[in-house]
Amino acid sequence: MAGIHVPAGAEPMRFHRTLGALREAARACQDCPLWANATQTVFGAGNPHARAMLVGEQPGDEEDRKGLPFVGPAGRLLDRALEAAGIDRRELYVTNAVKHFKWQPAGRTGKRRLHKTPAQREVDACRQWIESEIAAIQPEVIACLGATAARSLFGRDFRVSVMRGRFVESAYARHAFATYHPSALLRLRDEKERETAFARLVKDLSLIRRALR
Ligand code: URA
Ligand code: SF4
Repeated sequence: MAGIHVPAGAEPMRFHRTLGALREAARACQDCPLWANATQTVFGAGNPHARAMLVGEQPGDEEDRKGLPFVGPAGRLLDRALEAAGIDRRELYVTNAVKHFKWQPAGRTGKRRLHKTPAQREVDACRQWIESEIAAIQPEVIACLGATAARSLFGRDFRVSVMRGRFVESAYARHAFATYHPSALLRLRDEKERETAFARLVKDLSLIRRALR
C-alpha cells in the first residue's frame, strides 16, 4: 500500500486492518436488493489468521439481529458437529456466501421472518465480499456448507449430494470441499435420517483436520 510503512514482522497487523477495512466497506454495500430488508450486513467473523474457513449461505434471523454468522439454531448444530470432529471454532474464520438476510413474512401475524434462498444474481453480486475475505485470510482449507456456498465458489453445476466430503480443485484454496448445510439437518423430521446426516457432517468436517496435518 502506497504511503504506509509496514515494519518487518508486522504482517499480521496488516491482515487485521485489511479485514477490518473490508468489514467496514461491506456495511454500506447496496450492490443487490437484499440490503433493503435486512437489519445489517453480517460479515465473516473469527480468527483473522485462520488456516481454515467455513462458508455458509446467508445470515438467518438471529444472525441478522446480532450481526454475527452462525449464532442461531444452525450455528448451534454446527458447533456440536465441529466439537464432534475435534475442531475448535475459535481457530476458524466463519462467513457466508451472501451477507444480508433474505426473508419473507410468515405465520398468522406475518411477524415471523422465513428464510428465502438467495437468487443466483444475488450470490453473484455478493461474491466480491467472500473473495475479498479469502484474499485477506488466504486459508489453506475452505469448507462450503450447502449448495449456495458450493455453487458460489465451485461453480453453478456443483452438486453437494454427489460431491460432498471430497476434496475438489479450487483456485481459492489448496484444499476445498463441500458438505451439508446444518440447516438442512434441522429440517429433517426423521430421527434416523438426522443422525446419519449428522455423522456425515462430522466426518466431512474432519477433512479440515486431515488437510491441516
Ligand atoms: N445459515 C447460514 O448459512 N449462515 C448463517 O450464518 C446462519 C445460518
Ligand atoms: Fe451487498 Fe451482498 Fe448485501 Fe447484496 S447481499 S447488498 S451484494 S453485501
